[in-house]
Amino acid sequence: MRKKVTVVGAGNVGANCALRIADKELADVVLVDVIEGVPQGKGLDLLQSGPVQGYDVMLTGANDYEPTANSDIAILTAGFPRKPGMSRDDLLLANYDVVRTATEQLARYSPNCILIVVTNPLDAMAQAAYWVSKFSKNRVVGMAGVLDSARFRTFIAQELKVSVENVTAVVMGGHGDTMVPLVRLSGVSGIPLTELMDQPTIDRIVDRTRNGGAEIVKYLKTGSAYYAPSAAAVEMAESILKDKKKVLPCAAYLEGEYGIHGLFVGVPVKLGARGIEQIYEIKLTGEEQAMLKKSANSVQESVDILKKK
Ligand code: LAC
Repeated sequence: MRKKVTVVGAGNVGANCALRIADKELADVVLVDVIEGVPQGKGLDLLQSGPVQGYDVMLTGANDYEPTANSDIAILTAGFPRKPGMSRDDLLLANYDVVRTATEQLARYSPNCILIVVTNPLDAMAQAAYWVSKFSKNRVVGMAGVLDSARFRTFIAQELKVSVENVTAVVMGGHGDTMVPLVRLSGVSGIPLTELMDQPTIDRIVDRTRNGGAEIVKYLKTGSAYYAPSAAAVEMAESILKDKKKVLPCAAYLEGEYGIHGLFVGVPVKLGARGIEQIYEIKLTGEEQAMLKKSANSVQESVDILKKK
């Protein structure tokens, strides 16, 4: 039997997740959105691409969750996007309501699914989905590190004029301005970045990575990025659906790892059929640990606001 993925939110991120899942023939997809007609229309349009693209998956749209029953994975993309000048945290309370409602329904109709949270502010929304679903911590994971490290890898490859495929980069921490690109652990085919670039170049690239989302918001004006975010979410979904056990930076619920307690923060994890199958606690330098702490503190501030709701 084919796998089933629910994508909540038929906006740009959600629709592109559905498109990528279909193109990779990973699963049947149910697109859910509160706007009448939009998920149905986009679902049908995507379905009709099948004969041309050569995929045999079912794509449907709905305004309720009944058709999503027994999904293997739910990707939560619904929410308000950032406008220019807005921080991800400005979205906190508005998107909390969206995520809470969606998660209640997902947990009801697909009690065994794995939740991939994409809605911003990412780490706080993953925490909200974890609370509301009451799922075990391995079944709630946030997408951000894959996107942030993809941006870092892109800029490194561009600068060095090498294949993006040879570039590996580690980005930890929250998905925000305090994210922690780990230069020491990034490189090209095993060659450390510090051997290939001078410090000012590295600093410039790190800075551009940190502001990678805002750079796109500034261009688009009416919304935020969606091609790379959907690619990142679908890489995570694929690793889970195929039990590939990829090691990816993702937001995971930490209980003491890196000295962080009861909080979703981006760290390297192994993603397989059981969701987060392992959290890697790597040795950090004092400076890296301090940056991670600062990033976790900023996530904690958002989570504390939600706790009072
Ligand atoms: C970004 C937004 C979606 O990083 O958080 O592009």
